[in-house]
Amino acid sequence: MFDARLAFPADFEGWRTAARTALTLRLPPEELSFTIGDEAAGLFAEPLPAPPANAPQPTVPKAFPDLARKLVCHADEDRFVFAYRLLWRLQSERKLLEIAADKDVLRATEMEKAVRRDSHKMKAFVRFREIEDGELGRHSVAWFEPFHHTVELTAPFFARRFAGMIWTILTPERTAHWNGEELSFLPGATRDMAPSDDDMEVLWLTYYASIFNPARLKVKAMTAEMPKKYWANMPETALVKPLIAGAEAATRRMLETRPTLPSLHSEKLKERRAVTLPRMEKTPEVGLGQSPDSIAEARDQAADCRACPLWEPATQTVFGKGPEDAPVIFVGEQPGDQEDIAGEPFVGPAGKVFDQALAAAGIDRSQAYVTNAVKHFKFEPRGKRRIHAKPNMSEIKVCRWWLDQERRLIAPKLIVALGATAAQAVLGKTVTIKATRSKLIDLDETTRLLVTVHPSYILRLPDEAAKERETKAFRADMALVLETVPELAVG
Ligand code: URA
Repeated sequence: MFDARLAFPADFEGWRTAARTALTLRLPPEELSFTIGDEAAGLFAEPLPAPPANAPQPTVPKAFPDLARKLVCHADEDRFVFAYRLLWRLQSERKLLEIAADKDVLRATEMEKAVRRDSHKMKAFVRFREIEDGELGRHSVAWFEPFHHTVELTAPFFARRFAGMIWTILTPERTAHWNGEELSFLPGATRDMAPSDDDMEVLWLTYYASIFNPARLKVKAMTAEMPKKYWANMPETALVKPLIAGAEAATRRMLETRPTLPSLHSEKLKERRAVTLPRMEKTPEVGLGQSPDSIAEARDQAADCRACPLWEPATQTVFGKGPEDAPVIFVGEQPGDQEDIAGEPFVGPAGKVFDQALAAAGIDRSQAYVTNAVKHFKFEPRGKRRIHAKPNMSEIKVCRWWLDQERRLIAPKLIVALGATAAQAVLGKTVTIKATRSKLIDLDETTRLLVTVHPSYILRLPDEAAKERETKAFRADMALVLETVPELAVG
């Protein structure tokens, strides 16, 4: 039995060196243990020797290093041996990671997801407070309690986001510090070492109250996403109760004062100007580029997307909605008038047809992820109304980057394209509904595509008989969705 000593709880580099050495010595996973810091090793374990000079590098699938980096951050005490077991098996089972039903692969997938979520929570819920530090001057400090060992994994995000600040994130296990140039890690701290308020807080609270969107208030979802454990560190949570209390009246006010559209004359001028707009940049300024680590992060980035001109007249980016581990993604075309105001897909008339078809098939919408091929509302003003305009090829192409991120992060079993635009965005080529409808098409080894009509096609049908016939056919497609992915069943 050999024991490898690691420097800290998520010491990936230490694990990697030890794992390579153990592989060179052909040590099976049962004969390897890991200890952290000055923990006592098992009585009969010998220290793992240094790696032999010119030990060969093990070859692993491209996805493995990133997976292993996340596995060693998991709270599971067996994580290092488990990650080594995967590496060990990969030496003789090259395609192991593609066998989704394998027990070890399943476990690794779950662990990776949990770590990604924990890291996302840290990105979303860390709140810095400014202090005056004799040595460091103005310095921002935050207290956070991750569930897994995710400080090292997540700190580079803060270094990028708050590069111009000097900051420290204290956690019970590790402390991350950014001096404006370099990240360093120190032992953990206690809560009382973190400051509890500062002058920034008032400003932050004012800001939070102003961005609070009452129409999107879902208290249950909010507490699920933002567990109360984190509330103590977040100044804005003090505002949550009064804001919830006032939300109903605020929603009413918001609907009464829907964004006033510019006059037709100014819209016409804008249209004329639009013809001379510069060509779309190849590398858009914001949003596209760095792959997000979670749906929440993707949503944050997409909120500032300026990759095509549709962002300007729209009220906001309408990103997808639903669980990050949803087995199905429904893709529509683009948000409509009501979605643009509410900030959520399929909440207007087409959403109603969609909801009714799901209900008729026995599908629980909250288990699915619902999104659109294009994330901004494209419209033409007509008097006070905004009339839906079809997105063009280049808008669909540019926005496909976000859809690809959603697909990558959610990795669904099934994608349902609602209408030709969605099918085009998913497949990357033009297809007709007639040729593709109601067939299960393999997109890759794990994801299939089902193409059906867009619910608003049914809404637009002029006669009742056609409406009835098409509603039936649409519902039959939803029944096929449930048959393909029974996890979506209500209850
Ligand atoms: N139509 C769509 O394609 N998506 C929506 O979100 C609403 C209407």
